[in-house]
Amino acid sequence: MAAARGEFSSRFGFLMAAAGSAVGLGNIWGFPTNAASNGGAAFLFLYLFLAFTLAYPALMAELIIGRHTRSNAVGALRQLAPNPKLAKLGSVVGFAGIATVTLILSFYSIVSGWMLAWLLNSLATIVGWDAASAWLTNDGESRNAIFSVVFMLLTVIVISAGVRDGIEKWASRLMPALIFILVLLIIYVMTLEGAMDGLRAYLVPDFSVALQPGLIISALGQAFFSLSLGVGTMLIYGSYLSSRENLPVIGGLVAMLDTGIAFLAGLLILPSMYVALANGVEIFDASGALVAGPGLIIAVLPALFDTMGSAGVFVAFAFFVLMTIASLTSSISMLEVPVAYVVETFDTQRRKATYFLGIGIALICLLIVYNFATMFDLVVSVTTEYSQPLLGLFFTIFVGWIWKRNGVLQELQKGYAGAEHSFFWKIWPFYIRFVCPIAIAAVYIQLVFF
Ligand code: TRP
Repeated sequence: MAAARGEFSSRFGFLMAAAGSAVGLGNIWGFPTNAASNGGAAFLFLYLFLAFTLAYPALMAELIIGRHTRSNAVGALRQLAPNPKLAKLGSVVGFAGIATVTLILSFYSIVSGWMLAWLLNSLATIVGWDAASAWLTNDGESRNAIFSVVFMLLTVIVISAGVRDGIEKWASRLMPALIFILVLLIIYVMTLEGAMDGLRAYLVPDFSVALQPGLIISALGQAFFSLSLGVGTMLIYGSYLSSRENLPVIGGLVAMLDTGIAFLAGLLILPSMYVALANGVEIFDASGALVAGPGLIIAVLPALFDTMGSAGVFVAFAFFVLMTIASLTSSISMLEVPVAYVVETFDTQRRKATYFLGIGIALICLLIVYNFATMFDLVVSVTTEYSQPLLGLFFTIFVGWIWKRNGVLQELQKGYAGAEHSFFWKIWPFYIRFVCPIAIAAVYIQLVFF
């Protein structure tokens, strides 16, 4: 017999866990450069607008489904369905979510493994182990294989301990540490030459760029990835949330933490890049855009740290600790999705289920590592560009069209007396029925046909 379902013990614990899921590599290597390349503060306003008008309502859909059904993605969508046909659709969408998040986790672990390797590299540099350093920073298959498996193991250790003793405990320790390190690094970088140019590149608004239709759509896609939507991650965290909590408020806080930390990350990344530029490091790619993604993290910034003299290794150490924390609090939220499904469906012990799934996902990681050129980009694009928004669309349809409106309201009223008269209830149902599905469909059509 499986143990009773877990529940977060406090609002703080839930917020740290959900914000930990949302704040990941995307916030640090995607958002800041994207903002700087696409209109600065104008992009920031656009992103905030989309995050709160479209991504937040979709986040609410997942949290409400989760808390109401107290179940994993498959069980939850089945429960909402009024007839066997729709229950079947629920199973399919739930399964597709589990498969998608499992694949997202396998490429995420590889990238997170690089962060771990670079973290150890800063230690190796401090003690002068040059050979180790060379191996750690060289993009070799054996290094990638070892570190993606080590990172998976860390994820497995946290998840096997359960909701309170694993997810909540670690998120509550790691997220405050992340914010602390981020702020320290920002303060330090701001004192360096070139930082103000970076700030200008990040923040001076250019509305002519930010309001192009293609950009609006890509910003929306980014907001969905950043809030971990569409694959049942937020659904499962919502299912561990106490009925005493006011859902619209809690969802709003999660969205604010995610966008707030993305904004802060920009205050670190752009000034750092322009400090690097002042020190002679190339920060633009061949097409003239700012280097983003892995190239930013493992080429541009390390080159910057090298120019910083003896302070550089300590800055590098702090930075890669930050990246590792951001990765780990996201990866645990991904692994929880299949683990909850297996535990609840097959009555398996949590530890067993976690190790079993962890080994399976580690094997997929290795498959990708050893077939990197053919598989990596493919897996990233299929899961995050194609699968995730499509599944997000189905989640909004389940809440907006399949689940009875009264049931949704009753769930909201738990922890929110008078929800029926609230501003939230006046507009959110309309959003989730019409605005969100149409916006997501627009993203999708643009992606597939243009
Ligand atoms: N949101 C995280 C980031 O910004 C990544 C993430 C965590 C995620 N859980 C997810 C993405 C579930 C998609 C689905 O990096």
